[in-house]
Amino acid sequence: MVEGEGERLQKVLARAGYGSRRTCEILIDQGRVTIDGRVAHLGNRIDPAVNVVCVDGKLAPIVDGTIYFLVNKPTGVVTTAYDPQGRPSILELVHAPVRVFPVGRLDMDTEGLILVTNDGRLAHLLTHPSSGIQKEYLARVQGDPSPGALRRLREGVELEDGRTAPAQVSRVSEGLLRIVIHEGRNRQVRRMCEAIGHDVLRLVRTRIGPLSDPNLTPGSNRQLSQSEVRRLMDAVGMTKDIASTMPV
Ligand code: URA
Repeated sequence: MVEGEGERLQKVLARAGYGSRRTCEILIDQGRVTIDGRVAHLGNRIDPAVNVVCVDGKLAPIVDGTIYFLVNKPTGVVTTAYDPQGRPSILELVHAPVRVFPVGRLDMDTEGLILVTNDGRLAHLLTHPSSGIQKEYLARVQGDPSPGALRRLREGVELEDGRTAPAQVSRVSEGLLRIVIHEGRNRQVRRMCEAIGHDVLRLVRTRIGPLSDPNLTPGSNRQLSQSEVRRLMDAVGMTKDIASTMPV
């Protein structure tokens, strides 16, 4: 913490979207703000590029303003910001202090992990077909696909928008498949399974590249840790110095 220099904490927090300076003073007064792990006090000043500031235990996006959430989407929630039919949006699950958006899409009926951020560069790289980022799904399908049907899935199946790339496919138990793809076509896993004659009954995304979290319950979310953001950036070939901005 910097004494006598740096910016007033309430000013930095207000800029990061936590409300007016007065609201931020109240947050500080209530002991809900920490600087480098210690409870902050009114009058504290910080250097946003050096100090790690958390509000209610969560990292405040005070440096370059980027923020990253891993969300476990339940069924019935759309991944667009606005739905003309008024169905709930994934963005309603995340209480971000700044404007954020989902990275890529999951069907309304699909559950599981989706990233929500305001980092447009990372989002672009993650969703670009050349990113090659793996996405892992658990698919409960009708019936029990034969070894030959699984082989077809692995080798690629013909869909109306072209043949799918080779995928990793394993049978977890009767009618339950683990499928890893690195393309991101519309309803791809459902269409792949339909193509081998086994409609999907339930679909859950369990991993995005290096990100997974079996403890994240449907409907809940959490911020990514520093090492998770770094691993994600490594996975898409993006390097960035985030050492002083994220919790380890
Ligand atoms: N594949 C699908 O079929 N649906 C999703 O939501 C994601 C991948």
